[in-house]
Amino acid sequence: MKYFFKMFRYLRPYWLSYGLGMFLYSAQTFVFTFIPGMFASMIMAAILAASPAMINDALIFMGIAVAIASVVTGAGIYVYVIQSNKAIRDLKRDLFRAFTATGIETAHTHSGEGIAALNTEADRATEVYGNPLSVFLRNVIAIAGFIVVIFLIDWRLGLGTLAVGSLSFFIQNRFTKPLAKIGKEQLDANAAVVSSMSNKFSGGLTIRAYNLQERALVTFDRESSKLKFLDFRRAGIQAFQNMFMTLQGWLTLVLIFGGGGLLVIADVLNLADLMLVWPMVTGAAHAFGDIGQTYASLQPPLVAAEKVIDRIDAARRGDRPRSPAPQTAKGYELRVENLNFRYRESQSEALRNISLEIPENQVVAFVGGSGSGKSTLLRAIIGMFEREELPITLGGLRFSDTSVRNWRKNFAFVDQSCTLFDMTIAENIAMGAGGAASIEDISHAARRAHIHDFIEALEGGYDAPTGEKGGSLSGGQRQRIAIARALVKKAPIIVFDEATSALDKETEAQIMETILSLRNDHTLLISTHNLDNAVCADMVIVLENGEIVEVGLHDELMAKGGAYRKLYDEKDKDSTENAG
Ligand SMILES: Nc1ncnc2c1ncn2[C@@H]1O[C@H](COP(=O)(O)OP(=O)(O)OP(=O)(O)O)[C@@H](O)[C@H]1O
Ligand SMILES: [Mg+2]
Repeated sequence: MKYFFKMFRYLRPYWLSYGLGMFLYSAQTFVFTFIPGMFASMIMAAILAASPAMINDALIFMGIAVAIASVVTGAGIYVYVIQSNKAIRDLKRDLFRAFTATGIETAHTHSGEGIAALNTEADRATEVYGNPLSVFLRNVIAIAGFIVVIFLIDWRLGLGTLAVGSLSFFIQNRFTKPLAKIGKEQLDANAAVVSSMSNKFSGGLTIRAYNLQERALVTFDRESSKLKFLDFRRAGIQAFQNMFMTLQGWLTLVLIFGGGGLLVIADVLNLADLMLVWPMVTGAAHAFGDIGQTYASLQPPLVAAEKVIDRIDAARRGDRPRSPAPQTAKGYELRVENLNFRYRESQSEALRNISLEIPENQVVAFVGGSGSGKSTLLRAIIGMFEREELPITLGGLRFSDTSVRNWRKNFAFVDQSCTLFDMTIAENIAMGAGGAASIEDISHAARRAHIHDFIEALEGGYDAPTGEKGGSLSGGQRQRIAIARALVKKAPIIVFDEATSALDKETEAQIMETILSLRNDHTLLISTHNLDNAVCADMVIVLENGEIVEVGLHDELMAKGGAYRKLYDEKDKDSTENAG
């Protein structure tokens, strides 16, 4: 229930009109049962009195009451739906932000999960603003009204209604647990389907190239058959539930006409009152049953709410400083002290006992075989992982003391994938400066990344669109634009993770030259497979299985004849093989 109340923080700004709308809307069950009951009762009284005038009165009453009630409840629905939609929008906005701000461990690797969360989970969570609450409220109001009216007419019928109602509540409540459990499983299964599908869509090129369509279909069938199974179970339980509801319906009739009939014969109840009591008792029995289901119908939204709210709160934590210590770095000397890191879903540690000391304005090359931990280390340094604590300090500022957001300000980053957004080239580069960079800064950065001439030659120049994920550009062009984007940020530390891997030798050399020209007023952390790029580094760090095995200058490490030397010799072997 904690998450029920947490969900309501999004309604707080709209509370008054939402509450009013919800109340008016929820009064309708009572009102729309009471009016026909009253009408039937008046007609019956008219029949017993053989008075056409009283029928006329009843018709007038009915007409006016229905008109007023329809307008009021209609307005109620309108107001409450509008207000809850505002809250839903606010929540989705926060959730989207949370996904872009946190957790590459999950969000980055499972973008499908993010999409599922934004659609399915957020929608499901925000259901609490609508149905379960309005059903609950509607029934509470209805029961209160019905019981008062019934007791006013005859206390025995009142007690009978309470008895049938409690039975109905009890029966429906029994179905709560299994339905709630299935609801949660359905949610997970649904997320799995969406996630798996989005994965297949984004891997479209590979699927077509290897004719994997049938295989993809097999996965789809497997995932969705889980969903089918759950649907069956839910339907089965609902069938039972329905059976009991019918039974309870019969009991109600026994009470009204069996009990009511006896009372009429005993002359303690007149026929007109029986006409009014009839819908009241039926309505009360239903309302009790519906309340019994409220808990069940709240479960799927609450399960979703837990996921959604937790994610949003995690992102908020990332925005807040974690300690009152000063939040600015003095200089940008980088220290890592005995860092161990394991990915959340992984068994083994990706980084072990990493200790580093990198003075300002150094060029540091990170080398090592594939999977040795280069990318992981660089990502840990720039604050890509949602951890409260990592033993890293920058100019005396401890990672654990500041917000992730503040920490990241100190770094520019170019990675292997060089993701571009579906915008113009200028806008893409400006993203490096948070979206606001002058055209001079943009073209200056583009020049330094050796991409200016290419952009100028494009139709539209800097305003040319890049297509989704930069799809209308070559890999090398994307990398250079990504480098320009990093240069525009003017961060003291620039991190290049295989930033030049998609370039031909000549362009790579040119860009490395550009990158190295930044060394006078930037620290450059460069992970690379091309050991030529390590030659002029101030420090080469060699990683193996997540551990630092060697540190030194290129020449020193060559002379030492250890791990670095081995990497270097293998590279030479590769290039002669390639040449030959
Ligand atoms: N999101 C992730 N979840 C779990 N394990 C991961 C994740 N990303 C990487 N790993 C694992 O962490 C280890 C280090 O990977 P990392 O990407 O840091 O290597 P790398 O040195 O950058 O390799 P490459 O040269 O191929 O880019 C690998 O064993 C990899 O399987
Ligand atoms: Mg890597």
